Amino acid sequence: MANVVVVGSQWGDEGKGKIVDWLSERADVVVRFQGGHNAGHTLVVDGKVYKLSLLPSGVVRQGKLSIIGNGVVFDPHAFVAEVAKLKAQGVGVTPERLKIAENTALILSLHRELDGFREDAATNSGTKIGTTRRGIGPAYEDKVGRRAVRVMDLADLETLPLKVDRLLTHHNALRRGLGHAEVTHDAIMRELISVADEILPYMDRVWKILDDKRRAGERILFEGAQGTLLDIDHGTYPFVTSSNTVAGQAAAGSGVGPGAIGYVLGITKAYTTRVGEGPFPTEQKNEIGEFLGTRGHEFGVVTGRKRRCGWFDAVLVRQAVAVNGIKGIALTKLDVLDGLDEIKVCTGYRLDGEAIDYLPASQGAQGRVEPVYETLEGWKGTTAGARSWNDLPAQAVKYVRHIEELIGAPVALLSTSPERDDTILVTDPFQD
Ligand code: GDP
Ligand code: IMO
Ligand code: MG
Repeated sequence: MANVVVVGSQWGDEGKGKIVDWLSERADVVVRFQGGHNAGHTLVVDGKVYKLSLLPSGVVRQGKLSIIGNGVVFDPHAFVAEVAKLKAQGVGVTPERLKIAENTALILSLHRELDGFREDAATNSGTKIGTTRRGIGPAYEDKVGRRAVRVMDLADLETLPLKVDRLLTHHNALRRGLGHAEVTHDAIMRELISVADEILPYMDRVWKILDDKRRAGERILFEGAQGTLLDIDHGTYPFVTSSNTVAGQAAAGSGVGPGAIGYVLGITKAYTTRVGEGPFPTEQKNEIGEFLGTRGHEFGVVTGRKRRCGWFDAVLVRQAVAVNGIKGIALTKLDVLDGLDEIKVCTGYRLDGEAIDYLPASQGAQGRVEPVYETLEGWKGTTAGARSWNDLPAQAVKYVRHIEELIGAPVALLSTSPERDDTILVTDPFQD
């Protein structure tokens, strides 16, 4: 029996939330290990829609423990708001059901502001990333720069003012440089003290909880956010997020050893989307892109932005299989392709006239690669809502089998609608 890590194998929004929700029935604990409330994970259960950004997707099921690991950057205001929103939907989140690692770095209002200042300043210079403006990048910078305020600091009112001073020395210099007003020590202290009582009851030694759970034979499901092409090292840098999104991060971002990771499940959309700026070789800025966006409801959960859409890129997913150690994929949104006469799949690139079968690392080359396509026949019937292989049109099965071959990993799960139960199980990742 394995623990399972779920990661996005493209540029995010592959349907991780839906699959984590489905899999969490088989798990005891669901852990977020990177990113923050830049994630937008949608779950649909009997027609009821839940949109989660910071909380693990297992939280909607009773009897499961949810954990926010130390690899996350944690916005206390976003947390309080999300807990309240879920409560209004009938989902109670209590300190018994959710734990936040004590060594998790906080996102404060000054991080959100800096993210916005930089994006605004970059708009005219062509260096805009198109971030979610949630303060993710600035918060990770402070963590790595060893000046972050962490969850546990909220409980230590002696050292907290010193930490805030150190943080402000850095931030106020940046703010002055960007032509913005400084923030005062008192304002940040007030902000922190105002949330401390709501956060501290959830704080715990997550590494110890996970160690105990493992020893007791409980099943852990690690929920990745974003996707491999947004990974700070392996993605389309600098158009990426500020964390490692790959499966290896599940260990460091929660406090377990690499041996605890087990099965890596790559969530993979049957076509490709991306939000924000940056290279996207198979993007279709035409009626095909419009079709995919409309049929697939491709609008960002967090920012409401229209997602860019294009054909399936097997080069990228093959690379994601390698850098994550993906053992199987959950193929999602196959139904969006229903009714197309033909479907294209990118099988390789041409770079400056030469054929290559990988994504080059440099920004310039990533912008220049030209996709090489194969054209497959579409299918007439429908896959939407299918719950068994036998219900799939033969040509759709052919498309799935071809993708498996191109990326070098088998389909473990197939998703055919946003609904939890419109899911076909081929191989149980927990049993593998
Ligand atoms: P995540 O960020 O990876 O969790 O994905 P998002 O929730 O941001 O985006 C995926 C969207 O597709 C959501 O609106 C889901 O409800 C929806 N979705 C997930 N799986 C399927 C599927 O198989 N078919 C269709 N049509 N929609 C799906
Ligand atoms: P989920 O978990 C898609 C993108 C942003 C931007 C870049 C950097 O729902 O798949 P950031 O705010 O992280 O500094 O933005 O990353 N991005 C996502 N795109 N899905 C996500 O999460 C994303 N989280 C961040 O659009 O291009
Ligand atoms: Mg999303």
